[in-house]
Amino acid sequence: MFGKRSEAVAVQPAPAPKSSAPQKDKAAPPPKVAKPKSSTTQPAVASPAPVQQSSNQSEEYFKTKTTIFNALIDTIDLSQLAQLDPESAAEEIRDIVNEIISIKGLQMSISEQEALLQDICNDVLGYGPLEPLLARDDIADIMVNGSSRVFIEVGGKIELTPVRFRDNAQLMNICQRIVSQVGRRVDEASPICDARLPDGSRVNVIAPPLSIDGAALTIRKFKKDKLTIQNLVEFGSISPEGAKVLEIVGHCGINTLISGGTGSGKTTLLNCMTSFIDEGERVITCEDAAELQLQQPHVVRLETRPPNLEGTGEVTMRDLVKNCLRMRPERIIVGEVRGPEAFDLLQAMNTGHDGSMGTLHANSPREALSRLESMITMGGFNLPSKTIRDMIVGSVDVVIQAARLRDGSRRITHVTEVIGTEGDTIITQDLFVYDITGEDDDGKVIGRHKSTGIARPAFWDRAKYYGKHVELAEALDAAAE
Ligand SMILES: Nc1ncnc2c1ncn2[C@@H]1O[C@H](COP(=O)(O)OP(=O)(O)O)[C@@H](O)[C@H]1O
Ligand SMILES: [Mg+2]
Repeated sequence: MFGKRSEAVAVQPAPAPKSSAPQKDKAAPPPKVAKPKSSTTQPAVASPAPVQQSSNQSEEYFKTKTTIFNALIDTIDLSQLAQLDPESAAEEIRDIVNEIISIKGLQMSISEQEALLQDICNDVLGYGPLEPLLARDDIADIMVNGSSRVFIEVGGKIELTPVRFRDNAQLMNICQRIVSQVGRRVDEASPICDARLPDGSRVNVIAPPLSIDGAALTIRKFKKDKLTIQNLVEFGSISPEGAKVLEIVGHCGINTLISGGTGSGKTTLLNCMTSFIDEGERVITCEDAAELQLQQPHVVRLETRPPNLEGTGEVTMRDLVKNCLRMRPERIIVGEVRGPEAFDLLQAMNTGHDGSMGTLHANSPREALSRLESMITMGGFNLPSKTIRDMIVGSVDVVIQAARLRDGSRRITHVTEVIGTEGDTIITQDLFVYDITGEDDDGKVIGRHKSTGIARPAFWDRAKYYGKHVELAEALDAAAE
């Protein structure tokens, strides 16, 4: 029953009546509690948080836990324990911990003991203090900056949690446990490592001496239930008319780039865009870590591979995209374009794989195009910039810009067409923009999506070919005033 995050959550609500700091409390928790019975009378237990950050709260608690943990390590061989099946291991730990508590004469209530046991089991058998965070579905990212600072991103906002690791060694141990699952190693000799949790969450570890104050661990949590375009409309990320335009773009085989900053919702949006692809089309996806969840029946999913411990066996994004072209794809979807594969994606877009898509990291549609150009330049394709620009114009039809605004909300801020070149400059035109008009009393950004008054986008004929031109005109019209 331990070491599995899904179950850890079920155990969470019961323990930790001592948690006194509510979730939002960003300051370090005051040193108190973890003393006997008194804790049960603390009213703060009724914290409405969906899952408690459990017992990771007070200094006293940490001390008690460390004492017990050290005694436990002296008593048993943890590595052997980890080989047992989780239930017997937990039983074993329970027996020994209870014994330690009574030998040391520590006074604890039953519920405190339970919380402590859970914590210790998490440490030994799972991901330690990260378990309660991993169990929460509302968290997008977990960011660990050394042993005593753990931040999470919830609802677009970053907040400090009371979660802490015993010390940097425990943090390193957990990093090690995570990356060893994908056959990798992280230590002074190879301090940078990407990995994945069994549930698909993406993990990056950068360890000392490169990260100065203890290992930095970043986890982009995998969401089982991906947001749909309806969700985005409900959240106000896009207006219903904007969603209609996106649907037409996705459906009609229009080559699309999704641009945005880190965590702005690019992958989510790409996933939504793929839902508009016709069932009959053969789609090939290339990703660094498979995140997309296409619903169509005819999909081939490809994933890059980092080099192994000996430094060989790497398969890059470029290798994948090039190989795709030999697989008779109708559309190629590239999870994240960040290097020379930009060239191959453009080639694909240019050579009959209409409706190919990719995301890239940029803060505006124009910047996206210049990023694309520099990726190709830096990829060593000795091409004059005019040629590259012509290639971009010939390939990319639409750039969709995603952004995380200052209030934490995520919005689609531009749907922009690439229409041609004038001299050396690429000409774009915005079809749809998000217009920020102000801010309400709670600091929430107020604005609205509107079309820019262009009645006939450059992809009009294409939409017409697919019989979608009337809907397109209606959507643009409705959003104009
Ligand atoms: N429009 C949105 N509204 C609310 N949350 C969103 C929205 N788009 C994405 N998210 C959430 O934000 C997090 C980051 O999204 P993701 O698409 O992975 O970003 P990116 O690929 O740009 O790094 C995910 O947890 C996702 O569920
Ligand atoms: Mg992404």
